[in-house]
Amino acid sequence: MSVHGKARKVTTHTLQEMKRAGEKITMLTAYDFSLAKLVDNAGVDVILVGDSASNVMAGQVTTVPMTLDHMIYHAQCVKRAVDRALIVVDMPFGTYQGNSAIALESAIRIMKEAEGHAVKLEGGAEIVESIQRILTAGIPVMGHLGLTPQSIYKFGTYSVRAKEDEEAEKLIQDAKILEEAGCFGIVLEKIPRDLAKRVSESVTIPTIGIGAGPDCDGQVLVLHDLLGITMDFSPRFLRRYLNLADDIHGAIINYCDDVRSGEFPSEDESYTS
Ligand code: KIV
Repeated sequence: MSVHGKARKVTTHTLQEMKRAGEKITMLTAYDFSLAKLVDNAGVDVILVGDSASNVMAGQVTTVPMTLDHMIYHAQCVKRAVDRALIVVDMPFGTYQGNSAIALESAIRIMKEAEGHAVKLEGGAEIVESIQRILTAGIPVMGHLGLTPQSIYKFGTYSVRAKEDEEAEKLIQDAKILEEAGCFGIVLEKIPRDLAKRVSESVTIPTIGIGAGPDCDGQVLVLHDLLGITMDFSPRFLRRYLNLADDIHGAIINYCDDVRSGEFPSEDESYTS
């Protein structure tokens, strides 16, 4: 059966096979049971329980306030829905930087309490000790380079990263460090497409792009952006496949009109004794 066949559960090994076979990897975020079920049923390979839940679910301006308990809650909801996809859970800000013992403890909580399949951490050389320590417990780790939203206060903006040679070279080095450390894949966020191509050709592990052009081994988007629920976010890289915000708005207006006019509920929608 094909590596994206319905019956086969996706593992980190599946993703390596897909890269070797030149088969593109699909990844989307999910934070709750109902949407995770739809995403899994549609055959998406990887579901990311992203700390973008901070923006999308909680209405925070950045991902920084997200806690380990928040991430575990979202991961538990997603886990109950998913049969096939590999579930990757973001480690939130403050749970892995600068202290590898805390990093391991945090990753173990995600695996034990939410039964995620893997964790994702933002950063390169500066967090490699934490990555190595997590890997000693047999927990698969995904890296994340380029625009790393947990460091927004260091960057100051969400603009494209690594346009200059020095930052681009560091990013390629970081990708190699993550591969050598044992990461099974790397998210590349908002970097020039030629740099993403170079990185994808420099490592044997899959790269998953978001705003990193077509030459990555796979693509990820935030589900609510793809569905057109979050209408105030329109970066160049985003393709909206629906305008759900408009549809939902219209449906709710119709409901209110029907209730106010007495048209809902009808006779058919009522019980008789
Ligand atoms: O949290 C998230 O949704 C992410 C994606 C943008 C890759 O990390």
